[in-house]
Amino acid sequence: MIYAVTAVSGQLGREIALKLIEKVGADNVIGLARTPDHVKGLGIEVRPGDYDKPDDLCASLQGIDGLVLVSGMAPPQDRIQQHRNVIEAAKSAGVRKIVYTSIQGPDEDTAFSPVVQSNRQTEADTRASGLDWAIGRNGIYIEPDVEYIDSYRAKGEIANSAGDGKCGYTTRSELANAYTALVTQDGLNAQTVDLNGTPITQEQLAGYLNAAFAADLTYRAVSSADFVADRTAELGDFIGPIIGGIYDGISKGSYNSAGDFEAVTGRPHQSWNDYFSTFAK
Ligand SMILES: NC(=O)c1ccc[n+]([C@@H]2O[C@H](COP(=O)([O-])OP(=O)(O)OC[C@H]3O[C@@H](n4cnc5c(N)ncnc54)[C@H](OP(=O)(O)O)[C@@H]3O)[C@@H](O)[C@H]2O)c1
Repeated sequence: MIYAVTAVSGQLGREIALKLIEKVGADNVIGLARTPDHVKGLGIEVRPGDYDKPDDLCASLQGIDGLVLVSGMAPPQDRIQQHRNVIEAAKSAGVRKIVYTSIQGPDEDTAFSPVVQSNRQTEADTRASGLDWAIGRNGIYIEPDVEYIDSYRAKGEIANSAGDGKCGYTTRSELANAYTALVTQDGLNAQTVDLNGTPITQEQLAGYLNAAFAADLTYRAVSSADFVADRTAELGDFIGPIIGGIYDGISKGSYNSAGDFEAVTGRPHQSWNDYFSTFAK
């Protein structure tokens, strides 16, 4: 069996490729990338894989049995067609199974919902492809909160609109373990699974960050409108409201689910104590 992973120049695609290499060997894993030059040190064959270039995709997927399609970053209206290009290329190249990295979240009433809806459309396209399939719905990455530690420390607090909502965060590394299982194990076919760790509040998140980085952060709930304005000022008109919408989803309980990680991988998701202890000095 030969496996391919798209977007291997990105962080999630790279992690999935690394876990697949561990499981089936580098000779049996092919990377696809929009920008192959961005891929360093994976030790596998990397082929062209721009979601906007159907002919390249079709050529690059020749000889592939199982494909992990990593969700793109384009605005929702463009993303659906990009993912369709990958699915159609997989069909015409004779790929047997496709696994799509989708996302959890509210499909209406938040500024993140158009992104969630576009992921739901690709889920539907995946199920309708006629190929064997599996779909993972990723929890929110926890790594950005760790990368943000200096900024949180400078403010002395985490301030957002999640309130006391719980969020089932995850890590790219744990997602990679789950996607390796999903693409290599046919017993997991035809399932849509939630991939996340134990849900925690923002206050708990502040506690974990405090312990790991000897910080003294508190959590402050702010209104949705204020948080969107704050994020838009820092991140711009496209990403700012999306981030605001994600935290609105947390406050509404959209990410407060135990998830299916253990059913997929055969073991519990890494605990947050364990994860944060890797940063403690
Ligand atoms: N769960 C979460 O919290 C969360 C947060 C953010 C994003 N996401 C989703 O998860 C996905 C993967 O995340 P990540 O951490 O790996 O992001 P990342 O490190 O920023 O990587 C994004 C990847 O997408 C590739 N890409 C962008 N446009 C493409 C196109 N037209 N065709 C092919 N590849 C394209 C980039 O390729 P280049 O090297 O050519 O730029 C890069 O490899 C994201 O794309 C997004 O859908 C999830």
